[in-house]
Amino acid sequence: MTGPVVIGLENVPESDGRAYHSDKDSIYPLPADTDESARLTLQHKLIVGLFGGLLQPPVKEYIESHEHPAVVDVGCGPGDWIKDIKAAYPNAECSATDFAPTFASDPSTPVAFEFGNVLKRLPYADGQFDVTHMRMMVAALRADEWPHAIAEVIRITKPGGWIQLTELELKFHAPKAVTGAIKELEDESQEKFFGARNTEYFAAHRLPQYLTMAGLPSASVQVQRGYWDRTDVGGLGEAAFNTYYAVMQALSPVLATFSGNSVAYERARASKAMVEGEEQGVWMNWVTVWARKPKAGEM
Ligand SMILES: C[S@@+](CC[C@H](N)C(=O)[O-])C[C@H]1O[C@@H](n2cnc3c(N)ncnc32)[C@H](O)[C@@H]1O
Repeated sequence: MTGPVVIGLENVPESDGRAYHSDKDSIYPLPADTDESARLTLQHKLIVGLFGGLLQPPVKEYIESHEHPAVVDVGCGPGDWIKDIKAAYPNAECSATDFAPTFASDPSTPVAFEFGNVLKRLPYADGQFDVTHMRMMVAALRADEWPHAIAEVIRITKPGGWIQLTELELKFHAPKAVTGAIKELEDESQEKFFGARNTEYFAAHRLPQYLTMAGLPSASVQVQRGYWDRTDVGGLGEAAFNTYYAVMQALSPVLATFSGNSVAYERARASKAMVEGEEQGVWMNWVTVWARKPKAGEM
C-alpha cells in the first residue's frame, strides 16, 4: 500500500506505523494490518460467544439441509467467520471478499478469496450463494450507502437462501447515565468524527428496515450486550475489553485530526474511558439479523 489515504489521516504525522486500505472513496477508518487482524479474531470469538454460535437457527438448518451449500462472507477481514464455517461444514463451498488485503488463507480451511467492494459491484453472479454473511460494516458505510450495500448482499443470495448480518450499535449504555471520559469520548466522536463521516451509529437497529425496504418480506433480530470486564479473565468480558481497547487505540490518530487534540492525548483519553467504562458497568449492543430471500412467486 502507498500510505494512508484514510479520510482524516491525510495530514496525520503519526499514524502508528499502521497500514490502511487505499480506497480514497471509503470512510473506513481502521487499519488493514496484522494487529487489526488479531483484534478481529478476538472480536470474532466475542461475537460467537455472545450469540452462542456462528449461525442463527434457521440459517444453520438451511446450511445443514444442503449437501454443498455455497456460503460467502462479505467484508471478511481476516476471514475468521468463513474459516470456522468451512471447519464446521467441510462440504460447503466457501467464498470471501474484502476491498483490502486482509484475508489470510489457511490450507486447513480452504476459502476462495476475491477482492470486492460492496459499494460497487461484488465479483459474484446474481443468486450465487445459499447463505450470505456480512458483519461489522458500521464504520465502513455512510448512512446513505447502506441501501446499496444491502442490495448487493441480497443480489448475490439465491432465492430461498438466507442473509445473516451482525453489527454493533455505536453507543455506550450503563445502569446509570455514562459520565466522565467515556461520555466525553462518545459525544466528541459522535459529533466530530462519526458525524463528519455521516456514519449511521444505529445501523445495527436499522438492518431489518434496510432489508425490508430492499424487498425482503421480514427479518428476525437478536440483541446481545457486550460488557467489558477484565475480572472475567479468559471470558467474554475480558475479550470485549481488549477488542474495544484496541479499536480505540487504532482510531486515536484519526480522532485527533477531528478533535484538534494530540494523538497522545486521544490515546490517553481512550485508555481512561475504557477504565471508567468498566467501573460504570458499560455495555454496547450487538445485533444479529437474519432474513430469507423469497423465491420468485412467493411475495
Ligand atoms: C470491522 S472489519 C470486520 C471484518 C469481518 N467481517 C469480521 O467481522 O471479523 C470491516 C471489514 O470490512 C472491509 N471493508 C470496508 N469497506 C468495505 C467495502 N466497501 N467493501 C468491502 N469490504 C469493505 C474492511 O477492509 C474490513 O476488513
